[in-house]
Amino acid sequence: MPAARVKQDKIRAVRKELEGLAQSATSAHQLMSQMVKLLHERMLKYNWVGFYMLEKSSPAQDRMLVLGPFQGAMTPHTRIPLNQGICGAAASTGKTIIVDDVNSDPRYLACSVETKSEIVVPVFARNEVVGELDIDSHFLAAFNHEDRELVEYCAGLVGKHLEKMVA
Ligand code: SME
Repeated sequence: MPAARVKQDKIRAVRKELEGLAQSATSAHQLMSQMVKLLHERMLKYNWVGFYMLEKSSPAQDRMLVLGPFQGAMTPHTRIPLNQGICGAAASTGKTIIVDDVNSDPRYLACSVETKSEIVVPVFARNEVVGELDIDSHFLAAFNHEDRELVEYCAGLVGKHLEKMVA
């Protein structure tokens, strides 16, 4: 079977599992923890998978992204200001960012010397960015449009869960 087909089948199966997790989760935190574990285990090029959530308490101009549930090696970046890193850029613009070669992007904050590419997808609740899902890969250009759809689907599930909690 061609590699592209294998990936499509894998993504379809993972989406089904994610749907199940979202239905049975009793908290957004639980959903995020199970989600990062599933993505890290099943998607072989997703070598670090974690959430950063926007701190609520600080004044708008110095709000920070704070490391949430993650899988992979511990990162030195447990708190990221909105004007720093790929993470800060995705949260402050509210747009998905894919970087095929992190070493050629001046915004990149290094987490591991092995990281070669990265995707960061904002999580929205009630039309506001509340956090993001960040994934690093040890492979160059690991994230194509199918990965983007999958990671945006994950961020959407968490956003919906967060909206339900405060409904
Ligand atoms: N690379 C990110 C920082 C987070 S670590 O990769 C886990 C960035 O440039 O914002």
